[in-house]
Amino acid sequence: MAGFQDWQRTHMCGAVDESLIGQQVCLMGWVLRARNLGSLIFVDLRDRAGVVQVVFNQDTNTPQAFAVGQGLAREYVLAVQGRVAARSGAVNDKLATGKIEVNVQDARLINRAQTPPIYVEDGVQESEAVRLKYRYLDLRRPQLQRALRTRAQVLRAVRNHMDEQGFWDVETPILTKSTPEGARDYLVPSRVHPGSFYALPQSPQLYKQLLMLAGFDRYYQVARCFRDEDNRADRQPEFTQVDVEMSFARPRDVQDVIEGVFARVFRDVMDAQLSLPLPRMTWRQAMDAYGSDKPDTRFDMRLQDVGDLFAACGFKVFEDALAAGGTVRCIKAPGGGARLSRKEIDALGEFVKTYRARGLAWAALGEDGSLRGSFVKQISEASLAALCARMQATPGDALFLVADKPAVALTALGQLRLRLGHQLDLIDKNLYNLLWVTEFPLLEWDEEAGRFVAMHHPFTSPMDEDFAAMESDPGSVRAKAYDLVLNGVEMGSGSIRIHDSALQERMFGLLGFTHEQAWQRFGFLLEAFQYGTPPHGGFAFGVDRLVMMLTGGESLRDVIAFPKVQNASCLMMGTPSPVADEQLQPLHIRAEIEA
Ligand code: AMO
Repeated sequence: MAGFQDWQRTHMCGAVDESLIGQQVCLMGWVLRARNLGSLIFVDLRDRAGVVQVVFNQDTNTPQAFAVGQGLAREYVLAVQGRVAARSGAVNDKLATGKIEVNVQDARLINRAQTPPIYVEDGVQESEAVRLKYRYLDLRRPQLQRALRTRAQVLRAVRNHMDEQGFWDVETPILTKSTPEGARDYLVPSRVHPGSFYALPQSPQLYKQLLMLAGFDRYYQVARCFRDEDNRADRQPEFTQVDVEMSFARPRDVQDVIEGVFARVFRDVMDAQLSLPLPRMTWRQAMDAYGSDKPDTRFDMRLQDVGDLFAACGFKVFEDALAAGGTVRCIKAPGGGARLSRKEIDALGEFVKTYRARGLAWAALGEDGSLRGSFVKQISEASLAALCARMQATPGDALFLVADKPAVALTALGQLRLRLGHQLDLIDKNLYNLLWVTEFPLLEWDEEAGRFVAMHHPFTSPMDEDFAAMESDPGSVRAKAYDLVLNGVEMGSGSIRIHDSALQERMFGLLGFTHEQAWQRFGFLLEAFQYGTPPHGGFAFGVDRLVMMLTGGESLRDVIAFPKVQNASCLMMGTPSPVADEQLQPLHIRAEIEA
């Protein structure tokens, strides 16, 4: 291979356009494909910026240069010098470089490649497992490169904005102690302290609160977080948060900062204007209207309480649920009666059962105004007419009802609403609907543990109005906690923290911690809080999730350079992996694998 070291690259492949016609360029990149037509060889040469067509010509090339063209194969690394010309063949409007080609004058083969196990092209069906094993090849695809570029742009917009708003970027430890987010920790054994472990941070939560105590006033960090939990499309064991904390702040002050940073991201990255302030709804309103604490408001289809229509309707399922203190909720699927087959409706019935609903009642309004459905014959005409009037049902619509405990009915119908939104194509995919959900409950009941647990975390402040009910009716207490939701996905959450030690003790009491247990777990924080804690609050949003939404990805794997798969392994590196006994020994650890 003749040397190329004295060659100076002049342009990126994807940046060569008509403005350069007639000019001499030197390009370096990978061979996407080479078509050998005998005396002419067309090569698509790719780099980060795109693909350009370069043409070897036996009549004009030196034999050495033409021989380079003849020897090319997929993913070879090539350098060419040539002149830009208008395309001799068909113009390709899909390509930024589609109107030109580069006529090769000299070429150097920089490196050969094995036949790659995947095609480095978008839209080619390949097994995801193979793509992830060869992630470095998959990452050459334009789609992944675009996504990671967007990610870099998002982070730049965030950093610029936070910096301008007076926030200091402070790094916090990765080798730390358990934090209170409630997932399982990743643990790191200590060599120096036999039997002791560091925990990788689930978030920098405690550190950022200590920074407020330390007088830093406004902190942010692009923070890597680690949680050993079941992975899903929108969860990775390690992920990135933009983490924020502010002193002397009320919920609105934190929310204003977060709105500002989102507006900046939308402006700088998407060239789109967010209309501020963002809409707000309380947790109660979100649950009642959408059956979810992260409502997708891109389509309407709200849940309605129709229980008052059915107290004495003649249909036992509804009557019994109501008599037992339950509720009857309903959603209307516009056009659902006309478009859903009986089989599809039965499948919806099975679907709600996965959310613990006992069943799904339905009614469809025919074009002639007649009703058919699962409970139509068992119920009085007056109740049916009242139901249709309440739901403003028109011919062709379908109504779906769940009679159950309120939490079950709301969740089941909320999930059904989402499913129908997709199935009936009711969602405008071009919308970015951001909104705040506020006033989350302070506590939620953990059936398994038989006690209350913090819905956000144990340092979240109750709302002042609800202090009095903390002991008498803990389940009713609302928190100064808020989530930001984008198209039905939780982008981030935050809260105002407790800064008063007496209130913190009461909170621990509600969570079932004795004074000693609380001090054992969070003593360093409780002690610190005795030295003049400013009121403070903050927020954290998931960078991976945001970039996934902005790039239209379906999984966080589409926006993380080296992601993990569902079982938390990396198929490329083969992590996690066993280690040699000699490595374990100094850690005072012996691996005994249970069968
Ligand atoms: P929370 O636990 O709600 O709050 O996390 C905030 C945001 O982080 C993202 N996120 C995740 N992204 C990918 N994979 C995961 N496994 C994952 N888990 C969470 C989500 C989520 O909304 N310390 C508090 C914040 C605070 O109170 O300031 C916290 O971490 O987008």
